[in-house]
Amino acid sequence: MLFLLAIVSLIKFSSAWWCTGHMLVSHIASLDLSVNHPDIYSKIISILAPLNGELTHNIANTLTETACWPDDIKTYGLNEANPLHFINKPYNPEGITTNPIPSENVIFAINSFASTLTNSGDAPLEKSVSLRFLVHFFGDIHQPLHDTALFNSQFPQSDLGGNNFMIKYDSDINELHALWDSAIGMLEEDLPRPLSPQNWAYMDQLAAWYTGNYTRSDLVLELQAKNVTQWTVESYILAVDYAYNGIKQNEYPSQEYLSAARQVVMKQIALGGYRLSDFLVSVFSSPLHLERLTS
Ligand SMILES: *[C@@H]1O[C@H](CO)[C@@H](O)[C@H](O)[C@H]1NC(C)=O
Ligand SMILES: *[C@@H]1O[C@H](CO)[C@@H](O)[C@H](O)[C@H]1NC(C)=O
Repeated sequence: MLFLLAIVSLIKFSSAWWCTGHMLVSHIASLDLSVNHPDIYSKIISILAPLNGELTHNIANTLTETACWPDDIKTYGLNEANPLHFINKPYNPEGITTNPIPSENVIFAINSFASTLTNSGDAPLEKSVSLRFLVHFFGDIHQPLHDTALFNSQFPQSDLGGNNFMIKYDSDINELHALWDSAIGMLEEDLPRPLSPQNWAYMDQLAAWYTGNYTRSDLVLELQAKNVTQWTVESYILAVDYAYNGIKQNEYPSQEYLSAARQVVMKQIALGGYRLSDFLVSVFSSPLHLERLTS
């Protein structure tokens, strides 16, 4: 039992929005695409197809479920892509010396997987892999603690985006990164994949709530910003203002903190979903790309 708990906490330690949050970003994009851009949606399904089934353990066969695949591979020992899940821009209130930001980070990852996805030529494996990573990284980049790390005299090597910032919350969440990965406890439960019909209905319900609270028209300005670097700056500011503000180590977060943070998370998940959808539309709306992808 202890051994099992240790494995579970190891898995949770390094992941980004836990699987449900990742699926929600992707599900919001999926619903948007299937309703408003059915032709593009079917291209996307065909790009996923070659790696569906046993190669991805039968748990990543849809645009929604494959959002967790870049974390799934870690549990099978494929860790080489781990540094691509974040960019920890220093939040350095004491002005101490910090390490330079590695150039292989989530911005680099989004740009390079996007260029693989859009390049010409018949590359079914490479495009299928690239799309799966992209869907996940659109989620990561909208989690403020994937864009920020606290440096101070207590954390001279950084708190690793809150991973080392201990707090009290519940039996599964005892550090700040996990609190935000769980969407502040709102999406703490991992849903078994393939999703059951009940859990597909639950995803629909969540998508309706999140996009109901933050509609596209609420986010017009944010949706005009197409620059990936700019998105990491937005997330960094949210981390400084909401993730690190008004919380102390080894204590329970206040109700004020939790309710403000839940609004931030809802907005970021809705925004991530809309941006993913818009990005996929921009990639595949050129007739040239559609033609190349079918050939
Ligand atoms: C906003 O989200 C809450 C759940 O947090 C939900 O109960 C409510 O219905 C949502 N509002 C809209 C307009 O969808
Ligand atoms: C995106 O923003 C960054 C930082 O503001 C800037 O350096 C970069 O040139 C921008 N990229 C594009 C493609 O506009």
